[in-house]
Amino acid sequence: MPVTKVVVNLAGEPAYEVRVGPDLLGGLGQHLRKGTYTGERVLVLSDSKVAPLYLADVRQSLASAGYRAMDIVVPAGEASKSVACVAEIWEAMARAAFPRDGLVVALGGGVVGDIAGFVASTYMRGLAVVQVPTSLLAMVDSSVGGKTGINLATGKNLVGTFMQPLHVCASTDTLVTLPAAEWACGCAEVAKSAVIDSDDFFFWLVDSAPRLAQHDEAAALEAITRSVVFKAGVVAQDTREGRGIRECLNYGHTFGHAVEACAGFGRFTHGQAVAEGMRFAARLGAALLDTPRDFVSAQDDLLETLGLGVLGWSERPEVLLEAMRGDKKVRQGALRFVLPRDVGNWELVEVDEATLLEHLAAWEKSAR
Ligand code: NAD
Ligand code: GLY
Repeated sequence: MPVTKVVVNLAGEPAYEVRVGPDLLGGLGQHLRKGTYTGERVLVLSDSKVAPLYLADVRQSLASAGYRAMDIVVPAGEASKSVACVAEIWEAMARAAFPRDGLVVALGGGVVGDIAGFVASTYMRGLAVVQVPTSLLAMVDSSVGGKTGINLATGKNLVGTFMQPLHVCASTDTLVTLPAAEWACGCAEVAKSAVIDSDDFFFWLVDSAPRLAQHDEAAALEAITRSVVFKAGVVAQDTREGRGIRECLNYGHTFGHAVEACAGFGRFTHGQAVAEGMRFAARLGAALLDTPRDFVSAQDDLLETLGLGVLGWSERPEVLLEAMRGDKKVRQGALRFVLPRDVGNWELVEVDEATLLEHLAAWEKSAR
């Protein structure tokens, strides 16, 4: 299987390479040594599920390239994205006299990536980070683009920074141990990217979805590469989400987050909720933007094939609306949705609450 390389070129930031392919962990140290990182000390941050599987390989690879590595392993799961957990990591780094020119390596899914990025961008006012994503979601989305974040009791990702990694190493062999539900979560982000990107990506995915759903290696490699190319392009146009472009990556997420919150976190996976959000947004698009019905059903079919079928769950419109009001994507009280006009053609639309309630009622009725 070939290794693909995508270069992320952002104005005012050093360019970085995303490598995607099998068996990359063993060569990570040597790859960094070739010029990406010239210092000596490395902190590998991982979680309690990923560390037993891959930490030894990464540590050996770093040691063989002459780096002095330490590691910190956090409990797997979203709860680790907390101020308390980050404070413990800062303290451990300080106790180990971790230096200003040290490197943080994030080995894990999006949770580890977000924590490591945040820790790296704040400890001693900022050190470098390399992302080594091990979940499909992290490979196709969170490891690229430089968003870092932790949660507060009030909401998800309310504290964070923008800090681009030095390098991203997506070793696709690690995906063999990923639980099936997590695979589907990654597929939801691939579908999101394909719909927003282009006919070329969308129809490739429609053709490849049965293979991707079966964890086919070649299909996964191409899905990851296409998603990274797409995300790199979006982030290049709007690195700090200030120009109304990067918001497209939130397609399906406003409604999806409300579903997760109202159903109770853990009842549905993030991917299932995002897929429901994409179905809702497509129908809102059909009503408000004349989005073709053919698109709506093609997207439905795609999500179903990827193992992300309808939830068969509903909630009262007022309850969902209240949850959406709390989303940090709400600006000045207006609810803004990324709505597809068609494949590769989207718009950020402010939807008034009366209209939204009407569509939430229709969704509730159809979900019963
Ligand atoms: P995660 O990091 O919790 O990983 C999911 C589960 O899979 C965890 O239990 C993890 O231990 C396990 N896992 C990961 N890789 C594995 C492997 N190879 N083998 C076995 N188990 C493995 O969740 P995620 O879905 O990867 O990421 C979700 C997080 O990413 C959320 O916190 C979200 O806010 C964040 N996110 C950030 C961005 C960004 O741009 N920064 C974008 C999207 C999502
Ligand atoms: N996944 C959202 C972003 O990176 O902007």
